[in-house]
Amino acid sequence: MRNLPDTAKINKQNHLEIGGCDTVKLAQEFGTPLYVLDEKTIRNRCQGYLKSFKKYYPNTAVVYACKALCTAGVLKVVTSEGLGLDVSSGGEIFTALKSGCDPKKIYFHGNNKSKDELKMALKAGIGRIVVDNLQELENLDEATKQTNTSAQILLRINPGIEAHTHEYIKTGTIDSKFGVPQNEIDNAVKLARKKKLIRLVGFHAHIGSQIFDVKPFVDEAKLLLSLTLKYKTEEMSLGGGFGVSYLTSDEPPSLDLIAKEISQVLKNKTMAKLVLEPGRSIVGNAGVTLYTVGAVKNIPGIRKYLFVDGGMSDNPRPILYQAKYDAKIANKANDKPGEKVTVAGRFCESGDVLIRDIKLAEANVGDILAVLCTGAYNYSMASNYNRVGRPAMVMVGGGSATLILSRESYEDLVRNDAVL
Ligand code: LLP
Repeated sequence: MRNLPDTAKINKQNHLEIGGCDTVKLAQEFGTPLYVLDEKTIRNRCQGYLKSFKKYYPNTAVVYACKALCTAGVLKVVTSEGLGLDVSSGGEIFTALKSGCDPKKIYFHGNNKSKDELKMALKAGIGRIVVDNLQELENLDEATKQTNTSAQILLRINPGIEAHTHEYIKTGTIDSKFGVPQNEIDNAVKLARKKKLIRLVGFHAHIGSQIFDVKPFVDEAKLLLSLTLKYKTEEMSLGGGFGVSYLTSDEPPSLDLIAKEISQVLKNKTMAKLVLEPGRSIVGNAGVTLYTVGAVKNIPGIRKYLFVDGGMSDNPRPILYQAKYDAKIANKANDKPGEKVTVAGRFCESGDVLIRDIKLAEANVGDILAVLCTGAYNYSMASNYNRVGRPAMVMVGGGSATLILSRESYEDLVRNDAVL
């Protein structure tokens, strides 16, 4: 199934298996909730991007958008596949450097980078600063002088392109906090070119996230091509945003098709380097979250709830974006889905519902529920609501599981309580 990790299987015990590991055993060994990441799926996606794009447009670089899931264990895997990293904060820069990423392959984003973050990036020799607005150009100019460094920049522009996705994750329309509006580009280029320690390498745009249409990417490529030709620049970044399957009914276009259509715009018209910044589509389908069913509450004629031991703090996407998820009872993986249930979390909000009205195999207390496609924007947006520690994360592959993130302890939770 397209919303499961590539290595997912059902074993002889009727258990869901990922990366050769029985998920029920993982739950026993590491406890729940547990984020499980399939290494093979992540590697396959990285290789898929490089292969598809290089086939049609050899001068392509792929940088992984860390915001989707930023832990050293993941960054080491994606960089070992040859990807660079897109970071958007000092914390992500710090994690990227600690993980051993070549600073030259890092792209630093954000609409309000602090002066300290800019200096940190310059001192570390970060490859590209993606300048979001004119104030930032001035801040960067000041930071290069103060640190006695120089900066290679991409100018982020607002492409004004409508992509069909959720309002909150749409970024490229006119009314957006991101990017230089098109009527200011000329001025921004002139200003950038006057700065002695700043070199304008090219342009960047990002049109949104979880996008299934190829056309907005093609339009974006046309716009970036026209700027590249007009200003004779060397690099263009299309950002990320390629969609994934949360549900089996979600059918994103193939990477091959996206690569083909985008490269058709560029081929024979420019030699500029093409940069892509996928996040969700690298890690999304690699992840599954395991929960234990703690109680079943039946309200006759109304609804049957399964209560799980996590919820909106480890996966805030349903409550934030009304995101829909699919799930399986991991210890009854092949049982026919029968009854309709609603999976509710443990947090003190009625809205803490992970999945409304899903048909699952009959569930009982103690069963392990696997929620699918939780690799992206789950851990990276997790909170400590109700002072619940964030779950552990394991990377699975070849029949073994490696703990890549420890479960937060009570001590972790009070670590910053300055009065204790
Ligand atoms: N590049 C830039 C400049 C971005 O802002 C983003 C995502 C990406 C790349 C990666 O996009 P992706 O390939 O992952 O779609 N929290 C939301 C998604 C926010 C995306 C923000 N920017 C969610 O959970 O759906």
